[in-house]
Amino acid sequence: MNFNIIHFDKIDSTNSKAMEMAGSGQLQDHEVILADEQNQGRGRLDRAWVSPKGNLYFSLVLKPKIAVFRAPELSFLAIAALAQAVEEILPKSAKINLKWPNDLLLDEKKAAGILLESKVNGQNLEFVVIGIGVNILSNPDNVLFTATNLKALGSEISNIELLQKFLVKFEDLYQNYLEFGFKKVRNIWLSKAFKFKEEITVNQIKGIFIDFDEVGNLILQVDGELRKISSGDVS
Ligand code: BTN
Repeated sequence: MNFNIIHFDKIDSTNSKAMEMAGSGQLQDHEVILADEQNQGRGRLDRAWVSPKGNLYFSLVLKPKIAVFRAPELSFLAIAALAQAVEEILPKSAKINLKWPNDLLLDEKKAAGILLESKVNGQNLEFVVIGIGVNILSNPDNVLFTATNLKALGSEISNIELLQKFLVKFEDLYQNYLEFGFKKVRNIWLSKAFKFKEEITVNQIKGIFIDFDEVGNLILQVDGELRKISSGDVS
């Protein structure tokens, strides 16, 4: 399936635009909003995503026929595809990890994040918007988790080239997912998981990162008991 890319120089947020246009029927499955700059970029947990020129900002609209509770799997799929795309362009020495739920880390610093939004109608998932920001040329300094960018690791690529590489990897994984489910994504995600089997703190709870289950929950072992965590932040 081909992707249709709608390219803006500057907009408020590609996610806001995609939500609005898909909501009013102006965007269909596999359409992408790309912007060179955003002036109201949004991150997870109501944080801002500072979006100067030179980095990649886009939102992909999908209309999969899956149950509503499975929508978050698509953000794991997208970050796994992004890791594969970035792996192709970075020097072999770069360490690529995925930090739960869906941050891309390069040499243990954040280089990309995903904001997944959706429209649900009763039991039906009308559409999903997968918004991705990748630090290509620059990264913010005053952030909770130290950040980096692709250029700092020795790779220069334009936003469009990186988007195209991503879309190729994404489509391959997406078709596999629609046919066979979450298994392949889960395996790729786990093979790159940050601090897997180590002690982490999630939502202020300290424990051992024991598992990443079949729908993407993080399983934390706390004082000998297992806790299932479906959203939050690893610090
Ligand atoms: C995060 O908090 O890690 C998620 C960041 C997601 C940022 C991207 S940039 C493109 C898209 N448009 C937005 O406003 N946000 C997402």
